[in-house]
Amino acid sequence: MPKVAATTAEKIKRPHLEIKGDTLLSGEIKISGAKNSALVLMTASLLTDEVIILKNIPDLTDISGMEEILVSMGVTVRRTANEISLQGANLNHSNPPYELVNGLRASFFCIGPLLGRLGQAKIPLPGGCRIGARPVIEHIKGLKALGALVNVEHGVVKASVPGISRRLNGAQVVLDCPSVGATETVLMAAVLANGITTIENAAQEPEVQDLAAMLNVMGARVKGAGGPKITIEGVDRLNGCNYTVIPDRIEAGTFLIAAAITRSSITVAPVMPEHLSVVLKKLKDCGCSLEIKKNTIKIIPGEICSVDITTQPFPGFPTDLQAPFMALLTTAKGTSVVTEKIYENRMQHVAELQRMGASIRLQGSTAVIEGVPQLSAAPVTGGDLRSTAAMVLASLAARGTSQVEGLQHLDRGYSSIETKLNNVGAHILRNE
Ligand code: UD1
Repeated sequence: MPKVAATTAEKIKRPHLEIKGDTLLSGEIKISGAKNSALVLMTASLLTDEVIILKNIPDLTDISGMEEILVSMGVTVRRTANEISLQGANLNHSNPPYELVNGLRASFFCIGPLLGRLGQAKIPLPGGCRIGARPVIEHIKGLKALGALVNVEHGVVKASVPGISRRLNGAQVVLDCPSVGATETVLMAAVLANGITTIENAAQEPEVQDLAAMLNVMGARVKGAGGPKITIEGVDRLNGCNYTVIPDRIEAGTFLIAAAITRSSITVAPVMPEHLSVVLKKLKDCGCSLEIKKNTIKIIPGEICSVDITTQPFPGFPTDLQAPFMALLTTAKGTSVVTEKIYENRMQHVAELQRMGASIRLQGSTAVIEGVPQLSAAPVTGGDLRSTAAMVLASLAARGTSQVEGLQHLDRGYSSIETKLNNVGAHILRNE
């Protein structure tokens, strides 16, 4: 039988969220552990033969993907509700298979700890992704500075440490850009190296600070994480540890924006407000009141007016909240300008927001948004994790019922998003 193109009705049968918009939210949303921290902390288990117990692990497909990669290399993994125990006592190889690595960019994080502990690693190059090319040249330059031999052959990064001891040597590493991944790779490679390593122009993101804090609990000697220069004094071995992952600042930010776009008051907890400083400032600038306590934030939106946003490395405005914040600005009074400075192709949500009635002019990586009084529901598709989140937020505010596709992206980074939102009054149905 010749294949026929799927009809529109069949297409909409793809997994999607059905979201009834224009509803007020109220109550408290519990924030999960940070995906980007949890992923890298999991790879740090490769640095020791002792047990690592990580608490506050979010229930996400990316976490399951990383679990599979670690298991494929011989790590013993036990997972309960939001806790994971990892033991790399019997690592049997240092080259995770392409099928597992493909699609989970964070899998490249394994290269640093594998080189530090075993002196060798072969990791398939993470591909580009929809939001941009996402090179790993800074990771490779850093590892080379520590004495590794690194070649890229047939799409695989092959790295090894020459010499009998197979031990890396501390060195000065100056990153060309403050890459989060490169900082974490060099940090994990350097903790078991011989001597002192410095990372200059280091990423200052909270996830880097979280990794350094956990490595120190394991017996590493890391100073300065959270600032532009990190100093690592190599040690001979690391021990196991019990460690709790920080709350996810991007998830918390997404729910605060959900409150603002629906003009509803909600509380998010637990959070570390200092991880969200610029986002909170922008929420205030556009008309929201905030009650900030030690680890909770209550948002009380007023009339929402325009504000300009430029994404920057931490402590600047996070690129991962650019799409969700743009959804909010489509409903703000006045003209806002959003400029994306981290990724070259992170504006895919613009066309989908336009389908919901948003008025946006796109010039390269700059979007000029004229707020409209209300969005209207439509079937929309998110092209990546955060643009799908932006579609969910726009749908919560829109008049009518929207269908949001792209759940394969959403489930990578948001744990039970529809349950969390329904618990505070949203009407979201998952159709698989
Ligand atoms: C991490 C986050 C991701 C977030 C990003 C920026 C994880 C798992 N993911 O990704 O959610 O969007 O930080 O906050 O933690 N770059 C180079 N050369 C390199 C490496 C990076 O030019 O060798 C550039 C990238 O193209 C990009 C910028 O640096 O423009 C930031 O990338 P990076 O900080 O490395 O992001 P990730 O660590 O991949």
